[in-house]
Amino acid sequence: MSNPITSTLSEESQKIAGDALQASLVDLIDLSLIAKQAHWNVVGSQFRSVHLQLDELVTDSRTFVDEVAERAAAIGVSPDGRAETVAKTASTVGFDEGWQKDGRVVGAIVANLAAVVKALRARIDATESADPVTQDLLIAITARLEQLHWMWQAQQA
Ligand SMILES: [Fe+2]
Repeated sequence: MSNPITSTLSEESQKIAGDALQASLVDLIDLSLIAKQAHWNVVGSQFRSVHLQLDELVTDSRTFVDEVAERAAAIGVSPDGRAETVAKTASTVGFDEGWQKDGRVVGAIVANLAAVVKALRARIDATESADPVTQDLLIAITARLEQLHWMWQAQQA
């Protein structure tokens, strides 16, 4: 259907911000799925703390998913959070199948957080003048994910 939601942005700015939000949406959806997969499959002596910490990451990721999707809608861009789209376009690094030792889980979460943050930082640059409101949202999300990246890394030391 034709677009029923008009944007206050120029067509060019809407495209830049919409692309940044869509790419962030699929990354954050996959991050939430990876964290749940890890939450269910982690084993080892640090099981309990890692298991619980993973659900904090799920909660934050899901909150960010909704914020990013609704920002896209607010600027007249239809958000696409379908599994097929996530699988084809997310810039996450994935998670192995089956039971996973706690140390490997921590490493995988650090790697996925780093990949998502790297991509978000590029989008923060891209949205600087096109849409500072979208940029502000991406900055806030990145700040929290970098905090989590630190906390997960601290467990590897
Ligand atoms: Fe649970």
